[in-house]
Amino acid sequence: MTRLRVTCSRCGSSAAFTYEEMNCVCGGVRLVEYDLALAAKTLTKQALLHRPASMWRYKELLPVAASEDIVSLGEGWTPLSLLSIAELKLPVDRLWIKREELNPTGSFKARGMSVAVSLLKERGKRTAALASNGNAASALAAYAASAGMDACVFVPEDCPPYIVQECRHYGADTFRVKGLIHDAGQWVEAGRRLFGWSSVSTLKEPGRVEGKKTMGFELAEQLNWQLPSVIVYPTGGGSGVIGMWKAFRELKELRMITGPLPRMVCVQASGCAPLAAAMGKADSGSETPAATGMRVPRPPDLELLVRILREMKGTAVAVTQDEIKDAQRAMGARGISASPEGAATWAGFVSLCEEGWIQPKDRVVLFNTSHAMKYELHCANERTPLLGKLNPIL
Ligand SMILES: Cc1ncc(COP(=O)(O)O)c(C=O)c1O
Ligand SMILES: [Zn+2]
Repeated sequence: MTRLRVTCSRCGSSAAFTYEEMNCVCGGVRLVEYDLALAAKTLTKQALLHRPASMWRYKELLPVAASEDIVSLGEGWTPLSLLSIAELKLPVDRLWIKREELNPTGSFKARGMSVAVSLLKERGKRTAALASNGNAASALAAYAASAGMDACVFVPEDCPPYIVQECRHYGADTFRVKGLIHDAGQWVEAGRRLFGWSSVSTLKEPGRVEGKKTMGFELAEQLNWQLPSVIVYPTGGGSGVIGMWKAFRELKELRMITGPLPRMVCVQASGCAPLAAAMGKADSGSETPAATGMRVPRPPDLELLVRILREMKGTAVAVTQDEIKDAQRAMGARGISASPEGAATWAGFVSLCEEGWIQPKDRVVLFNTSHAMKYELHCANERTPLLGKLNPIL
């Protein structure tokens, strides 16, 4: 088994592999460590050529010990679409979109939840619970259903109605909570204490970061082990950023990639951009933004996110609701169904090009983390002509 132990990302202290208590006494978050020498024996670039089109192709670097415990709905190995720079007239060398909306349940949250629920299955747990802005809740609902487990999910009351219905469709006990995601989190903590629920809220267990890590592995493999120079990612709790950073470090240790890490850009919503503020970026927005995955006023480990951005020579940027709507339309006009979070990466990308932070030599990847249909849509052309007008030509 390659999974070795958990190590604190802040103070470096190690402990035996655990499913709970991911917070170290120093306040840092613990991350899974692997026996990379053992992993390297079977995880090679050559071996990967023959593996299935699933994120479980990297099984040596995922923490589930027995393959019978893997709960999978076909997540990962999403397309990386190359856009036409000439048509877009963009001042960059290459622009790709990682199509995370094509995952089961329509978002990248499927990756983390596949690992988290597999770990609960391995441990014989019966009830999983979490607080979420929506997409993680519906992903948990689906994976718990597939594993025959119960799920209790808590979302803010303005969570998009379609996502609430989706959770119920998969059979989860679904609660809308007054307030924001951390208010929802209090219900999960109470259920954990009173009923022994397993919390799979952000950074409360080891699986979700590990699952999201596969986005980094896929980028490297799909680009023939040449990383892009810039990654633009919509950031809320930050486990995707932590996961990709961890992925690149593991690939470096395995000598599967060389050279500098991509510059990571975290995009947030104006009015709730704690990471942008911590990076010294001004945000003039004062209104609480709409319910999206980026609306997380208190990320569980802001200090780690800042450290990662500094190490990756990255930055953070806050974009407005109107910029997000425009970007959604721009992506829709190119055949890509982008959620507000996915569209925020486009908006952030455009503003960093204008600022000169992204330069003509850069090779850029935007993460479209979910698709538009789960939210209110912003259409390019709001007018629908009456069919009657066509009668003369029929
Ligand atoms: C579509 C979407 N994008 C991005 C995020 C933020 O992801 P992370 O928690 O990795 O920062 C979320 C979280 O809910 C989300 O639903
Ligand atoms: Zn510590």
